[in-house]
Amino acid sequence: MRSRRTSETTLGRRSINTLKTIPLGDLAPETFLREYWQKKPLLIRQALPGFNGLLTKQELIALSGYEDAQSRLVTYSNHQWRLKHGPLRKRDFKNLPGDAWSLLVQDVNHFIPAANDLLQKFSFIPYARLDDLMVSFAPAGGGIGPHYDSYDVFLLQGPGRRRWEIAADYDAALIPDVPLKILRHFKAEQAWILEPGDMLYLPPNYAHHGVAVDACMTYSIGFRAPSYQELIDQFLIYLQDHLSVDGWYTDPDLKLHRNPFEIDSDMQRQVRSILKKITWKRSDIEEFLGVYLTEPKPHVFLTPPEQPLTFKQFKKTIQKRSLQLSLKSRILFDRNKVYLNGEIFLVDHAAKKILSALLLNHNQPIPNNLNGETEKTLYQWYVNGYVLFAASNTN
Ligand code: SIN
Ligand code: CO
Repeated sequence: MRSRRTSETTLGRRSINTLKTIPLGDLAPETFLREYWQKKPLLIRQALPGFNGLLTKQELIALSGYEDAQSRLVTYSNHQWRLKHGPLRKRDFKNLPGDAWSLLVQDVNHFIPAANDLLQKFSFIPYARLDDLMVSFAPAGGGIGPHYDSYDVFLLQGPGRRRWEIAADYDAALIPDVPLKILRHFKAEQAWILEPGDMLYLPPNYAHHGVAVDACMTYSIGFRAPSYQELIDQFLIYLQDHLSVDGWYTDPDLKLHRNPFEIDSDMQRQVRSILKKITWKRSDIEEFLGVYLTEPKPHVFLTPPEQPLTFKQFKKTIQKRSLQLSLKSRILFDRNKVYLNGEIFLVDHAAKKILSALLLNHNQPIPNNLNGETEKTLYQWYVNGYVLFAASNTN
């Protein structure tokens, strides 16, 4: 369910004109990976020269009203931090405490094609690691307090300036009874003022504190790294649906018990040997990973077309109009398998080529020599809302 919708025609019409640039300044991606990725922070002045944001403050506020964009409004007044989760309403922006507030909206790339283009500039990191683009707005003096995150992030400065302070060594104690994780005793080791187009890379667990110097917007390109616990929990859930074991517990040799409340050791032994039947193959792990990494987040809904074309109409239309991946789709490949929004599809070499063109946003109709299986797969994706015809990517 979404309460308010926007469309490409009203939001984010600005585009990224330096599409091919890798935003690492003079640094080669290999050098970045070897020396900085997951190791140490890096400030890149004019990583994206001329970058002045992709949406206005008003557009960000409009996005924060969507059910399917995760948004947070952080305020600080009377020595108290407060947090309100979206969807946010107009009244939430009335009576804000002067300069001490911040609006943060996650998954902006699900709504704005140019935001998706911006993420593609970071393809020197595999998409399997990419999470989303978060955009924040704060008036001069605003921020969300000193904290650390458990993921890698590129903090790209949009319009306005922000002062960033960072520290590798810090006391991890948090301010108690606050709805946000804010460090109690933060002491900066380094500080910079970032101007539009400047970017700061931070590895996980680096303490940071950003305070708006002017009213400003910051674009956070965030990555995902599951905890061991999360991976194992999710794998066990996956296994539940993929494991089928025959047999029943039996005890034809049951002996008379002295104490009927006692769990006897024969029963324990039998259950131990039944549970040893929980096994998995390498392909189970590979498929689990593809499904897990492409599963839409709980608040994300892919919208099927209201009046879908018939298969016959669809086959004709794809010769003339180009198909695009929905901005909300997550797709990854593993040899002949395509993982799309938590589902697995088997494809041949030709289909993989077409899909790659779709992903690179090549505005071209589909070649007419598709095999029947590929046509059916594409149709299924269209009916599910995973792909749509170009110029209507506002799902
Ligand atoms: C912000 O944009 O205000 C905060 C981003 C972050 O600290 O990760
Ligand atoms: Co942070």
